Formats: sequence, C-alpha cells, structure tokens
Amino acid sequence: MTDTAISESVKNYYGEVLKSNQDLKTSACCTLDAMPWHLRPFLTDLHPEVVSRFYGCGSPLPPALEGQTVLDLGCGSGRDCYLLSRLVGESGRVIGVDMTEEQLAVAKKHCDWHAERYGYARSNVEFVHGQIENLASAGIDDNSIDVVVSNCVINLSPDKRQVLTEIFRVLKPGGELYFSDVYADRRISEALKLDPVLLGECLGGALYWEDFRRIMQELGCPDVRVVKENPISLDDPEVAAKIGMVNFRSVTVRAFKMPLEDRCEDFGQVAIYKGTIAEHPHGFDLDDHHHFETGRPLRVCGNTADMLGSSRYAEHFELIGDKSTHFGLFDCAPPNTSRSLDSGAACC
Ligand SMILES: C[S@@+](CC[C@H](N)C(=O)[O-])C[C@H]1O[C@@H](n2cnc3c(N)ncnc32)[C@H](O)[C@@H]1O
Repeated sequence: MTDTAISESVKNYYGEVLKSNQDLKTSACCTLDAMPWHLRPFLTDLHPEVVSRFYGCGSPLPPALEGQTVLDLGCGSGRDCYLLSRLVGESGRVIGVDMTEEQLAVAKKHCDWHAERYGYARSNVEFVHGQIENLASAGIDDNSIDVVVSNCVINLSPDKRQVLTEIFRVLKPGGELYFSDVYADRRISEALKLDPVLLGECLGGALYWEDFRRIMQELGCPDVRVVKENPISLDDPEVAAKIGMVNFRSVTVRAFKMPLEDRCEDFGQVAIYKGTIAEHPHGFDLDDHHHFETGRPLRVCGNTADMLGSSRYAEHFELIGDKSTHFGLFDCAPPNTSRSLDSGAACC
C-alpha cells in the first residue's frame, strides 16, 4: 500500500467507519488514562459532540501554558484543542491540524460555543485541514510554535520520521513536544501494518519503542522523557487473534528542541522548583523519575538542567551550578519498565 492509500484508509476509518468512540473495537485509541485532577472540572465545559468523537490515548496537556501558542497534530473533533484553549488563556493561541474533513467539521462547529462558555471575546482556536507530514502546507512557519501536542495520531502516519522532522522545524528553540501515542514492544510485520482495522485502531502502525528512540536521536533529540504509560488490553477477540503476540502501551512523552547529550552527564548541578506553576503548588513532575518537590534541592544531570533552564519552565526553577566542571556520568536510571526501553541512552 502506498502512503496515500494508508492515509485514505485512516481517513475512511475516522470519517466513515467510526461515528463515536463507542464504535472502537479496542481501548488503544481511548485508554482511560486518568486526566490530571486539576483539569477534570474543565471536562464538563466541553460540547458533548466534541467529546463523543474523542479518540485519544492519553492526556497530553502539559502545565504552564498561559499565553503560549500550541499546535495539536491530528486534533480530530477538537477535545484537546478546547481544553488547551482554556489553558493558554485568551492571550494564547491553539491551532489544530487534521486531514479528515468529518472530524474537522465537528471541531469547527463548536468554536463559538466554547469561546462563549470560557467568556472569551472571540475564539483563540483555529482548525486547519492538512497533513501532519507537511505542516508548511497547513501554513505553520519555522520556529513559530511554543508547544506541540498530539494524542494518538503519529502511529497512524505512514511517514513518522517526516512528522517528527516537521515538529522540530516548527517548534521554537526551547519549545516542547508533549504527546501521547501507542508503542509496540517489537516491530510489527508489514502485513499486519496494512490491516485497515488494526491501523485505524492505532495498533498496526505503532512504532517499536526503540525505533522511535532512534528516529528522535537521528533528528537531534537524544533524550526523550517518558511522563506516563499504560498497558493497552486487546479486548476484541478478532483483533487479539490477529496481533495478540505484540504488547502495546500508550506512552506520554516529553521532548525539547534544544541541544542535549546522548547520556546523562554530571556537572554537579542542582535544581529547585519554586512551586510557582499555579496548578502544581507542591511539586513538578518532569518525567516518571524526576519529581521536584517545591523548595527541595535535587541534583540533576546536564540534560535535565538544560530542559528546565532553557525552556518555558525556566522561570519556575532556581538552577545552581553550570557545566564548567564535569564529574563523569550521572546515575539517572529510570524505573524498570516493560517497554524494553533500557537502551542505555539518556535519562528517559
Ligand atoms: C485516533 S484519532 C485522535 C484524534 C484526537 N487527537 C483525539 O484525541 O480525539 C486520530 C486523528 O488523527 C488524524 N490523522 C491521522 N493521520 C493523520 C495525518 N497524517 N495528517 C493529519 N491528520 C491525521 C485522523 O484524521 C484522526 O482525526
């Protein structure tokens, strides 16, 4: 199947086959990943039609978004865009890109409804029809975006490297990529990749985690942090019979557009979280093994210091030390996981 045929198959699945998330055959596109507690009240302010066509596999909604420009790749019916609309505030901007007209039509229909609900003079969200492999044709300029998010979409792309290349093109230096997607614990055979149901259910196109890590490294991002992950159960017997030998997980990752090293190096640096992100007064989680308790100094590797000091999180941290003296490798081991992620690379 050509890339175009894969895109057409995905468009057909999200435009014609699925009418709401009740029609999904597995939980892959819609895991019950707990929404962060501070965002749960916002769910009641979303239009029901938008929610009924939500097919995300996580909650890729990072903190400290006030005034930011956020791009949502494969925004679908716009659930995350409308949550982000609230999080960036009236001075911020949200752009959603999707290739399926039926999904975009639902998203666009409710722009004014949400603006009114949030008390905004006019909507700060715009929805653009386009391919996430070619964001230039969707009008997204180089170095123009503060934060790129995406929820269960990149697995559907026939050219994931191109999508990730585009993300790093459009992000501003120091910008953040924060997205949830489905990953496999092995490479999936070509035959299974092309099965329209497995593809549409976000399984057939799932990247083997190590291949994702390699692509990111080749694109200049050697340190990807895992924020959260959940196993995916294959409840549909037909789907399980086809692909049951593969283990799938939905993973939320965080990465930055900045020069980082491929291993965690120790320069004797210390970071202190100031507790100044309103929704996180007591602590901040950079990833699944870096919890910064408010006010408590924590030794960090050079990469972590750069992520905190050269991104929008800088104003929320006091960083002590620089890179003038090197003390060797930093012991920054992640927790043991079944992702087979223990690649010996950086902190992630
Ligand atoms: C699993 S749904 C997720 C939608 C949305 N992020 C959500 O959480 O509800 C996947 C969406 O990605 C869109 N999509 C898939 N591949 C795409 C591509 N290459 N370019 C643009 N949109 C794409 C589909 O049209 C569909 O709306």
